[in-house]
Parts: sequence; structure tokens; C-alpha cells
Amino acid sequence: MSRRAFITGAAGQDGRFLSRLLVEKGYKVHGFVRRGAAVEPNVTPHIGDLADPAALKHALETSLPDEVYNLGAQSHVAASFADPLHTWRVTAEPILTVLEWAQHAKHAPRIYQASSSEQFGTSPPPQNEKSPFAPQSPYAIAKVAAHMSVSLYRKAYGVFAVGGILFNHTSPIRPASFVTRKITQGAARIAYGLQDKLELGNLDAKRDWGFAGDYVVAMWLMLQQDAPKDFVIASGGTHSVREFAELAFAAVAESTNKPELRDWERYVEVNRSYMRPAEVPVLCGNATAACEQLGWRPKCSFTDLVRLMVEHDLKEAAKELKP
Ligand code: GDD
Repeated sequence: MSRRAFITGAAGQDGRFLSRLLVEKGYKVHGFVRRGAAVEPNVTPHIGDLADPAALKHALETSLPDEVYNLGAQSHVAASFADPLHTWRVTAEPILTVLEWAQHAKHAPRIYQASSSEQFGTSPPPQNEKSPFAPQSPYAIAKVAAHMSVSLYRKAYGVFAVGGILFNHTSPIRPASFVTRKITQGAARIAYGLQDKLELGNLDAKRDWGFAGDYVVAMWLMLQQDAPKDFVIASGGTHSVREFAELAFAAVAESTNKPELRDWERYVEVNRSYMRPAEVPVLCGNATAACEQLGWRPKCSFTDLVRLMVEHDLKEAAKELKP
């Protein structure tokens, strides 16, 4: 019989990449999603809200998964300052429903928690599994709580539960509320005359960006090990928002044969309303343990990632011109 997987946040970027991977591997995939959200082909949707523990428990009990991937959250760091309580409810609390269910389930299900490099906050880079947490947002605080709940249930009850501490990972299906997609979409639309400028916040923040398609493989690998263990998943490189913008505009300039777009600063304006009340200045992960123990390595380089997103957004912008 095929193995069963259950994904919260199945309609999000990672949920979609992971659904495809698990369907390909022959899993029967169940997705916990809000009403109206679309899931990938061959995924059974369970409609519910992460703020409703009874709905989540019911979905787990009816689908009886062997593996649970808790990816759902209020995942926008800036938005967590505006609504810390909702962020807490849907980011910190649902894993407790999952862990409680797993603790009492007879078939010893395995649990993956989407932990985040935001948990490291101002901890000095490069960050690895031993780096202390120094969260700088309500989102990061909620993620630390969820991560520590996973460690507790592993230790106290022997649940096979892991926290994958993933550094930033993006793709062409990332919403434009995140800076990478905002930049590639903005640069492509500027090239086609669909917008004049791009407003950004802190250009000096540095992040370790990888391709989401590579990172979901690490999630799956973590649940296939003999023993449960937390891992950092990262590319090991770090780039500023400024560098991302420079590279994205250069790629657009090349593809559209518009060399003036190389002068990206002409098109970008800093708008202080995109700055956060507290910022994480530099994230740079050390994924040596994942590389050695899981055999995981990212395939897509930073420059390939920017190019992939730019090419996608140029096609989208062209569609806007000729609907
Ligand atoms: N969103 C956004 N919009 N960010 C901007 C902008 C802007 O206009 N201008 C500059 N930034 C800066 C932010 O201040 C931050 O330092 C950096 O760009 C990245 O912001 P996001 O793309 O929103 O991602 P994030 O790093 O805050 O969080 C993402 O990565 C985490 C993993 O480290 C999210 O995906 C989280 O859910 C995830 O846990």
C-alpha cells in the first residue's frame, strides 16, 4: 500500500513543490488548505483553517498519514508585526495539535516542522544547528516556539519529529509580497512599460537564497532517516537585496535587449514603509550536517535562480501586454 503524507499549507509555494515530489514518489498526498485554495493534481484537499485545532485534528484522524509536513503558517515577517496574535495562532500553535495526535497514534507517524532561519535573527553568521536563536519578529518568536515544541515531544515522548531550519528559498511561484519575486516581477514589468518604478525597503539586508524545489527534497530526506534530528538547510552563500536587484535588472536587460535597465538604481526607490520595526541584518547558513548526513545538496545556483525567476516574469509581463 502506498504511504500517506499530510501537508498543511499545501497550496503555498513549498506545499506545491512538496506535493509534486511526494506524488511522484508514489505517496497518497492529503493537503490541509483554506476554502478556495487550489492544490496540486492528485492531492486530496481537506478544507480547514490552521486557527481551528478541531478541524486539523479531524483531518489527521481521517487521513491517518505516515508523514506529516507542517508547512502552513502566517509566513510574512513584516505582516507579523501588524498582526502578532493571528501570527502566533497559526504559526506556533498548530504543531501542538499535530504532536499531540502523533504521540497517541498507534502507527508512529513522522512529523516535519517547517522551522525557519528567521529563528536565528541577530545570531552571528554563518548559522548552523548549534547557533543560538535570537528572533527579531513575532513570526520568528512563533517559529522558535514551534521548533522547541518539536524538540520537547521528541525527547519527552519519543515522537519522530524534526525541525528543518530552512534558509530563504524562493521560486517563480513565490508571491510578490516577498522581496525576490517583487523584484523579478517589477523589473520585468518595467521592461515592458507596465510600471515605472519599484519601491523597496531595506536594500542592505543579506539573505541566503536557494531554490524551493531543491529545499523540499531535504524535508523528505529528514523523515527517511533512522533517527529524528534537526537540520539547517541553506545554500551557504549570502547576498544583499541590492545585489539581488542588480542581478535581476541585468538579466532583464540582457533578455529584452534593453541595456538601460542595467542602471537599476534609476528604477528603484526606497520607501521607508517597507522597513521593519526590527530587522535581521545577515543570514548565511552552514548546511554541512545536511550535506554529510542526508546527502543533500542544492542544485540551483543563486544566479540560475534569479534567471529562472526573471524568465518566468518576462513571460508573465508579455501576457499582460497581449492578454
Ligand atoms: N517583503 C519585502 N518587501 N522585503 C523587503 C522589501 C520589500 O519591498 N525591501 C527590502 N526587503 C528586505 C526585508 O526587510 C528582508 O530583510 C529581506 O528583504 C527579505 O524579505 P522577505 O522576502 O519578505 O523574506 P524574509 O527573509 O523576511 O522571510 C522569508 O524567509 C524566511 C526564512 O528565513 C519568509 O519566507 C519566511 O516565511 C521564512 O521563514
